[in-house]
Amino acid sequence: MATITVLDHPLLRHKLTLLRDKTTSTAQFRQVAREVSLLMAYEVTRDLKLEPIEIETPLEAMHTEHLAGKKLCIVSILRAGNGILEGMLDLVPSARVGHIGLYRDPATLLPVEYYLKLPTDIADRLVILVDPMLATGHSASAAAARLKQAGVTLMKFVCLLAAPEGIATFTSEHPDVPVFTGAVDRELDSHGYIRPGLGDAGDRFYGTR
Ligand code: URA
Repeated sequence: MATITVLDHPLLRHKLTLLRDKTTSTAQFRQVAREVSLLMAYEVTRDLKLEPIEIETPLEAMHTEHLAGKKLCIVSILRAGNGILEGMLDLVPSARVGHIGLYRDPATLLPVEYYLKLPTDIADRLVILVDPMLATGHSASAAAARLKQAGVTLMKFVCLLAAPEGIATFTSEHPDVPVFTGAVDRELDSHGYIRPGLGDAGDRFYGTR
């Protein structure tokens, strides 16, 4: 059963408005996206398991807890996913990182992999797959399928904004992968842009337009 979580913390909602605003500069966009990503990482790691541990404080021994079990790997869908990566690593600096590059074949319109670099032990990790925009859902679905092929069994998908069409595609192909988003927007336009959206996330991050 697919789960969609709209992360609606007031700070996230405020920062998302800044990202949507066309007058936000490239530098501001990068900074705010980094803050948003950190907040999102905080929310999606909420169910990490803890285990007991005994330590010594400067004053006495104590029973406390630390993270148990599967460690994290964040996988960025190139290129815009890298804009999300940095903020997540601010919160979880020891996470491993993978990258996957996909382009859309102009003839078939299907995603084709052109780059893949994953940690060798990715199958033992909880994977957070990141791409700012869940638009058609085809790239995210292909990336999730590739990660499953690499042995990943526990995965979450995180985006800044989602279109209803992208959610439908992704969740029908990967009902086992929970989706976390800052908002679900109205629709995709005929060029595949999310409306009202925030424009082309890669261009906004890197100032390429
Ligand atoms: N990719 C983007 O960067 N923006 C959209 O609106 C849709 C896909």
